[in-house]
Amino acid sequence: MKHIVLLLTKSTFRKTKTPLLLKEGWRAAPGWLFKFVILFTQPPAASLEASPYRARARRRQPSFKRRAVWLPTGFFVQSRTVLFLTVLALSMTACKGAPGRPGPDSQEIPPGEITDFNTLYGQNCSGCHGEDGRGGPAIGIGDPLYLAIADDATIRRVTADGVAGTAMAAFAQTSGGMLSTAQIDAIVTGMRTRWGTPMDFGSLNPPPYSAHIGDAKRGATVYAIYCSSCHGADGRGGKASSIVDGSYLALVSDQGLRTTVIVGRPEFGAPDWRGDLPNKPMSPEDVSDVVAWLAEQRPEFPGQPYASAQRTVGGLQ
Ligand code: HEC
Ligand code: HEC
Repeated sequence: MKHIVLLLTKSTFRKTKTPLLLKEGWRAAPGWLFKFVILFTQPPAASLEASPYRARARRRQPSFKRRAVWLPTGFFVQSRTVLFLTVLALSMTACKGAPGRPGPDSQEIPPGEITDFNTLYGQNCSGCHGEDGRGGPAIGIGDPLYLAIADDATIRRVTADGVAGTAMAAFAQTSGGMLSTAQIDAIVTGMRTRWGTPMDFGSLNPPPYSAHIGDAKRGATVYAIYCSSCHGADGRGGKASSIVDGSYLALVSDQGLRTTVIVGRPEFGAPDWRGDLPNKPMSPEDVSDVVAWLAEQRPEFPGQPYASAQRTVGGLQ
């Protein structure tokens, strides 16, 4: 048995203005089943009365009878659009099954049982970390350099528990998220398999992923040497944007800054720890110190544009 479902498009309704569904149902012909819809359409009475263009409006709103078409297949339609759609439907939608009956491939996997990396990453991470692990608003966790310095335990911990005070939420069910341990493992393994191409650093060793906070005073000098050419003399922006903006620093952790300094955002032209100056890679101390300098710019009360607002109890005066 084949089924034809009559489609009524928006434009059909736009033309008819006040469609009134008189009857709908199914009609059988040998080998076919048609959905029929009988519509009654009225010109909007008010607009006809009030309109100074009454004659034209009448012409645009022909009576129901004149527009109705009786199809030999046994149902009423009220415009040529519908007739066209019907023919289209006849030629295209010789359906495979009864409406509403689930097909063999329509079984949904419950969200808690998905372990496919592409699905998990696409649904949970790509919005911030980019479709291919790079190019998103948050750091490129698919960058092979990132995967070279961050170990599985770190990636698993951050994914499970998030980073407090930043947009990186906790994803583990044990921390209030939606993902099971198996799903988080699938993400960590998948990131390695898909993006973790081994990198050749030559004679260099990348700075360690984590370290104690460095010396902010020394960091100011490191900044001037390695960063000011792009981010401006004081960090407020030059060729590249400001990195001392209070709102930015308030939402990024020290480790987040450190990861950014080591890995960069090559997809946006931000160099990694080797790329700021030719043949002068940053030392591990340089990295720690410049992060300390940046962390020192973080405002105590973020989101307070005027110093006075902090002192005034109750806000603005
Ligand atoms: C709403 C945006 C958002 C989503 C969604 C998101 N992240 Fe993050 N993620 C961030 C931000 C922002 C940071 C940096 C936090 C910081 O400042 O340390 C981050 C940091 C990370 C880090 C640590 C980077 C480092 O410095 O070592 C990992 C690993 C990570 N995310 C993995 C994931 C995974 C896996 C998912 C999906 C399950 C995910 N993230 C989803 C925003 C997001
Ligand atoms: C060759 C130019 C260049 C140099 C040198 C450079 N950066 Fe950047 N940096 C960029 C660009 C481009 C971006 C991304 C786009 C933007 O923010 O304008 C960026 C982004 C950043 C970000 C923000 C990343 C994010 O989360 O969006 C931080 C933090 C940063 N750089 C720190 C540094 C530090 C610290 C140094 C010095 C060690 C440095 N940069 C040197 C070009 C540079």
